[in-house]
Amino acid sequence: MKATTIHDFSKDPSIFKYEDVPDPEIKPDHVIVKVAACGINRYDLYHRMGGIRRDITFPHVMGADITGSIAARASDVTTLSEGQPVIVAPGFPTDPADWDYTPINHAPTYTVTGTILWGGYAEYVQIPARFVIPDNTGIAPEKLATLPLCLMTAMHAVKTLGQVHPGTHMLMQAGASGSGILCIQVAKALGAKVITTVGSEEKIETVKSAGADEVILRTQEDQVGRVMKFTDGRGADVVVDNVGSAVFESNMKSLKKGGIFVNFGLVSGYKVDFDLRNFFFSHHTLKGSMMGTMEELHEGLELVRQGKIKPYLDKTFPISDAAAAHEYIESRKVQGSVVLLPG
Ligand SMILES: NC(=O)c1ccc[n+]([C@@H]2O[C@H](COP(=O)([O-])OP(=O)(O)OC[C@H]3O[C@@H](n4cnc5c(N)ncnc54)[C@H](OP(=O)(O)O)[C@@H]3O)[C@@H](O)[C@H]2O)c1
Repeated sequence: MKATTIHDFSKDPSIFKYEDVPDPEIKPDHVIVKVAACGINRYDLYHRMGGIRRDITFPHVMGADITGSIAARASDVTTLSEGQPVIVAPGFPTDPADWDYTPINHAPTYTVTGTILWGGYAEYVQIPARFVIPDNTGIAPEKLATLPLCLMTAMHAVKTLGQVHPGTHMLMQAGASGSGILCIQVAKALGAKVITTVGSEEKIETVKSAGADEVILRTQEDQVGRVMKFTDGRGADVVVDNVGSAVFESNMKSLKKGGIFVNFGLVSGYKVDFDLRNFFFSHHTLKGSMMGTMEELHEGLELVRQGKIKPYLDKTFPISDAAAAHEYIESRKVQGSVVLLPG
């Protein structure tokens, strides 16, 4: 089959090579998925640079957000049929001994799909059948491929950890990012009021269309002042952050007494100066969020089926041009997500 591989880690996206690689072989408990589309996450950029796991073997095929159809199944797989449209779980344990671990995203060998085992920058991918979901969303595969990883993350960060409910005032960082746009939609589906940040004016309409009640232009406005005005001086009940160090201090100042801070990302950096006095005097709770469970993904997909959450596809690229797609994400112009198409 054709696939886009890396033979080494590199900061330079031109490291990708489009080439012939062996077809995946069918083995017990597994299916082969014919890839229709594969979404790209910022995670892929970190992985390409060697910032995630350095213990992988080369060549490697990355890619977590896979939609497609069942091309073949092992004889012991009875739950899926050939030709059936499917969504691949964006993460699962690499060791079958961990497949029943609860919660699954805490399993010792849980990794994002395409981190160690081969992922979706290819024509076909081999996946354990239990981590493949029949697709009955009615959404085109290239749009659907914007969802799995960020939808699961949003359900976990906003609903489970952030405890967002009707009336919650939530601050979402980088609202037009692939993850931000889904966190906004999950929060709105749960009945929250959402204020979000963007880095440029072109992104304002996009985050409003996703449901944001108010938008802060990060480069020009005072975040803390805007959040205080939005919450009548109380501060946000919940801050959900994917930006990291550059906004850590303003995030903490934007939180109300007893507020919850959920972090799942670090686009601006991962080291912060942490003021313990403000933390305990203000009864703050800090939570780290990494991916989510299959149940959270199913629940998120149900919101998609109900029309409460929609995909934001910015642009597609051929899988052979993964380098251009990665460069486009690095440009910071993306609104929503970028998706690769085979062929
Ligand atoms: N833990 C998890 O489970 C999980 C899941 C999903 C994502 N993540 C993480 O969340 C972060 C965002 O991921 P994503 O896929 O949503 O990213 P993305 O779609 O590439 O968007 C990132 C956005 O961050 C904003 N940004 C703010 N400061 C930045 C800076 N210094 N450099 C670059 N961008 C900056 C930019 O938007 P503006 O120009 O509008 O500011 C940029 O478009 C990443 O760190 C990713 O690894 C973690």
